[in-house]
Amino acid sequence: MDTLHLKAPGNWLNDPNGFIYYKGKYHLFYQYFPYAPVWGTMHWGHAVSEDLVHWEHMGAALFPTRYEDQNGCFSGSAIEQDGKMNLYYTGIRYREINPENIHVSEKEYDVMQLMISSEDGYAFDNFGGKRVVIPGTENMRDPKVWKEENGDFYMVLGSSSRGEMGSAVFYRSKDGFNWQYMSRCQSGRFGKILECPDLFRVGENYILIGSAMHITESTGGYEHHAVCMPVQFDTEKCRLTLHEASREEYQYVDYGLDLYAPQTNVDAEGRRVMIAWMRMPKAVEKPGCVPWNGMMCLPRVVEYKDGHVYFRVHPAVDEYFGIEISGEDEQDLFFEDDVEKESISEAKEAGASAILTGEPVRIQVTMKPGECLDIGGFLIREERDFIRTDRGEVFGNIRGHRTMSSTPKLYGRYKLDIFVEPNLIEVFVNDGEYVISNVVYGLGNMICGRVEKIWKGNAGIKC
Ligand code: FRU
Repeated sequence: MDTLHLKAPGNWLNDPNGFIYYKGKYHLFYQYFPYAPVWGTMHWGHAVSEDLVHWEHMGAALFPTRYEDQNGCFSGSAIEQDGKMNLYYTGIRYREINPENIHVSEKEYDVMQLMISSEDGYAFDNFGGKRVVIPGTENMRDPKVWKEENGDFYMVLGSSSRGEMGSAVFYRSKDGFNWQYMSRCQSGRFGKILECPDLFRVGENYILIGSAMHITESTGGYEHHAVCMPVQFDTEKCRLTLHEASREEYQYVDYGLDLYAPQTNVDAEGRRVMIAWMRMPKAVEKPGCVPWNGMMCLPRVVEYKDGHVYFRVHPAVDEYFGIEISGEDEQDLFFEDDVEKESISEAKEAGASAILTGEPVRIQVTMKPGECLDIGGFLIREERDFIRTDRGEVFGNIRGHRTMSSTPKLYGRYKLDIFVEPNLIEVFVNDGEYVISNVVYGLGNMICGRVEKIWKGNAGIKC
């Protein structure tokens, strides 16, 4: 069981796939390589939750069995239709096998869109139950399928126009099995290749989320980033129109930029929830545990107001952090229960305002101009109207990756809601106006600086 963040159950995890609330439970599948903590022939791992914060691992749901998906079951999505769970995904077939490592290929590959249906969301007939729904070799992938109010099914796929400009490709279907090509929308705002597009409505507005490749010139590690934007979508012809007047040229889904390949769906209460992969530059290795690489961010509620997309803390996370630990004095917040008396006095002497015990904690504070908070060596500061983070001290000497992150300009409002786990810190700024999420390694145990409230939840950290 994973608590709070779904993590690779050993070895490798990337994109969330097939995220759906189905027959009273949340099902979250993910890109999974079960043999080593590196990317390789893709399977779909499977986890189930009742509340979006306690996840039970169910093993591998999909794995290569057919000619069309012999080198991997790439990303895709889930819908419920006639009581069944239908998964759509991209099958991959390498044109040339690398004799040194059959799990990767630098060369061309063929893609097809496949579907597999399950009666209960747990049993998937990998050997007899897959069918090709869109044949073809053009480079399109990551089908996101949804049903519109008109009763028809729609699919958006990520693609590229001649490898130079990202594009979103649309198909439409009456029955979910037979698909008709509708349109393609290309834009410089989709990078050179668009991956994992997701188009959905929040109230009356359509929002497009996608992962755009090569939108930044090596800003430190990653060049591919998840972006979001309000759009217009005409369901008749599948015409996608991008708004010119959005507040920033790109709104990133997250300003820490480790977050990638987000996927959304509606939760039990009808909120639009987003979950995304947190890219990790190295595996977490602990004696006696299988090394693991890759985890999901906290579930975030997507809202839209005045041209801006907000990613708010999901109420299930509020509920999880039910235990408030507040000292009489703001400067005197300690987890007395968990920490030895001596280490408390040592920490006080060293100027700590609280101690991290390895359990996840939530910290809230409204920053004053120029103020800095040090969470186990991870720095968060207000600087010239921006919130900036610096993980330089807690990033395990990994080179070539960005250590500093920043929000856009904040116009005087610095309300922070910070979630801390040993390998991930998520900073929600101004109720989800912006979020900075950073992967960390080797976090220290002292919190130094002013904090207003700290909560802890149920223990649940695994190694
Ligand atoms: C995004 C992505 C998808 C693809 C999958 C393969 O991270 O590259 O486009 O389906 O990962 O694992």
